[in-house]
Amino acid sequence: MKKTVLVSGGAGFIGSHVTVELLEAGYDVVVADNFSNCDRTCYEGVKQITGREDLPLEVMDFCDAVAVKALFAKYPIDAVIHFAAYKAVGESVAQPLKYYKNNLTSFLNVLEAAQEQGGCNVLFSSSATVYGEPDSVPVTEATPRKPATSPYGNTKTMCEDILRDAVKASEGKLKGILLRYFNPIGAHPSALIGELPRGVPNNLVPFITQTAIGKRECLSIFGNDYPTPDGTCLRDYIDIVDLAKAHVFAVTRMLEGKMKQACEVFNVGTGRPVSVLELVNAFEKVNGLKLNYKFAPRRPGDVTAIWADPSLANTEMGWKATRTVEETLKAAWAWEKHLAGK
Ligand code: WQD
Repeated sequence: MKKTVLVSGGAGFIGSHVTVELLEAGYDVVVADNFSNCDRTCYEGVKQITGREDLPLEVMDFCDAVAVKALFAKYPIDAVIHFAAYKAVGESVAQPLKYYKNNLTSFLNVLEAAQEQGGCNVLFSSSATVYGEPDSVPVTEATPRKPATSPYGNTKTMCEDILRDAVKASEGKLKGILLRYFNPIGAHPSALIGELPRGVPNNLVPFITQTAIGKRECLSIFGNDYPTPDGTCLRDYIDIVDLAKAHVFAVTRMLEGKMKQACEVFNVGTGRPVSVLELVNAFEKVNGLKLNYKFAPRRPGDVTAIWADPSLANTEMGWKATRTVEETLKAAWAWEKHLAGK
């Protein structure tokens, strides 16, 4: 009997890539999204890639408790992967209540519905942002979390605690896995799905590709006076398809009863620190182009350096990032050209 996975926020950047991998791994998937932060491009792209024209889509807001309960009553949900949340760091600083209300309410509604159906496997989309500015790198899952530098980051920390407490109180009915992503970048090799930021991109790679295609005038590299080899910040950039595959490993771990604790946490990264300048140079080299960029002042809230020790996910889940930065940046550029009709 096929297992069914609900992907909340499944029309978004990460949700759509995870949906492709789940379908290709033999799971049934229900995509639920309110399209507040994306359009239908990636949902349509998922259907093209997988050939699943019948892919169920529920257009709904996870802040609507009645709609969430109806969703759980309509489908035999064996696991839920929760992406539905706002994720712009800067916007969360300007509008904290919008972020707390949306990101916490939507997750609480999912957990309540899961409890009411007698239990479920819940996979939460967390973030390395919970580590703040780590005292040492690479970070492991035992690295202490630090006070978040933004309301967005704080909602991730709070949702981790909410899941842990709900699992603990559920007497085995709820199982949870927290996946802490580092920096997801790139696009599906088909160039039919990828990152689609609305307005001016906050994140580095979409700003790079939009500059290269001519949508943006010039990339500003925020700070080249950091205590790092080339003065720019270090991050763990993980290919979006590698990241998506980690979700299949995690869901399978839950559904096959392989978990060692009722609530587990895994870093999902490459373990490979890359600087902003290295990424820009790699993008230019692998795509054979010159990028217009300049050095600008530091961006408030940025951490100097963070990258993962992914060995727990490697050993416990058997998952490992395999794509090179070059492959990822090639795919990111192909996606941007696809969007421009080139
Ligand atoms: C990476 C580096 C910037 C843009 C955030 C969230 C995280 C995750 C990914 C949300 C930094 C530099 C960026 C630009 C630049 N989730 N940069 N010029 O801040 O590491 O992580 O996004 O989507 O939870 O915290 O990612 O891509 O914004 O920045 O120089 O135009 O690129 O200063 O050093 P970040 P990012």
